Amino acid sequence: MSHFEFPRSRPRRLRQSPWIRELVAETTLNAGDLIWPIFVREGNGERTEIPSMPGVHRLSIDRAVEAVAEARELGIPAVAVFPATPPELKSDTADEALNPDNLVCRAVRAIRAAVPDIGLICDVALDPYSSHGHDGLLSGGRILNDPTVEMLCKQAVVQAQAGCDVIAPSDMMDGRVGAIRGALDRAGFTEVLILAYAAKYASAFYGPFRDAVGSAANLGQGDKRTYQMDPANTDEALREVELDLREGADLVMVKPGMPYLDIVRRIRDRFAVPTYAYQVSGEYAMLVAAAERGWLDRRKVMLESLLAFRRAGADGILTYFAVEAAKALRG
Ligand code: PBG
Repeated sequence: MSHFEFPRSRPRRLRQSPWIRELVAETTLNAGDLIWPIFVREGNGERTEIPSMPGVHRLSIDRAVEAVAEARELGIPAVAVFPATPPELKSDTADEALNPDNLVCRAVRAIRAAVPDIGLICDVALDPYSSHGHDGLLSGGRILNDPTVEMLCKQAVVQAQAGCDVIAPSDMMDGRVGAIRGALDRAGFTEVLILAYAAKYASAFYGPFRDAVGSAANLGQGDKRTYQMDPANTDEALREVELDLREGADLVMVKPGMPYLDIVRRIRDRFAVPTYAYQVSGEYAMLVAAAERGWLDRRKVMLESLLAFRRAGADGILTYFAVEAAKALRG
């Protein structure tokens, strides 16, 4: 509280020059707060731009290894690896998710070998592998919870065997965190972390990501509203986080990011656990598209949006801007 009134109190004194603004800044943003999501594809020497995400590419594994090495040098602590599975390997039962030699497992092994000190995060969900584009198993128009969880447990173990450090269930099935924790422990992976997409909303901001992993066409007119959360809700997010923590989540995430900063703040205040936010593909696309038209200053909105996550209470941010932001923060 300010104890004086104008003219004794002049809040602008604290803003008059860079040194004092630096001294009173309440929030910081560092490369160490950033997690970089990357898309991998088959092939060699390949780098394909994703049309709805200018500046973001699907990289073949060799290219991904180089990119991750650069990210680590820039001070980025972890990457999240997403596969663009070839359509012919997708099926109704998403069996490719359990193949120890699938794209994501090969990428994890290659990155692990070349960049040993970076954190490797893998999503657990079936959508990159399912011909219907859903995160779970589909039967008679419904997503089956418990059979999906059984598969997710196997997927988590396969990814841990490949060398993944953090399993990130993004599927929103009930009970999956506890089941995955049990499966990892039984397989000897007691040190593998779980980052739960605890409060994940059924959002239209995921559109460009679905283009990137090739699940948009598959999903067609369908949606994920029977498992992802209703954007109208906030108490429900707290219940989801509480359940995931009880089941063994080490870290929790809110997704999307910028339209859901109130959720980040509530979770952080209530649970005081490591809390992350995902600045999703549609948020990236919005900022980049406006910058391309000259309507926004790309560098400034990038840094301001990331700082806003930190101010809302996020310990870290998953962002497609990670490398660019780390460079900008370096000077
Ligand atoms: C899949 C998954 C999605 C994202 C991360 N994991 C999409 C979805 O739920 O449909 C979205 C990421 C983004 O939009 O950047 N389970």
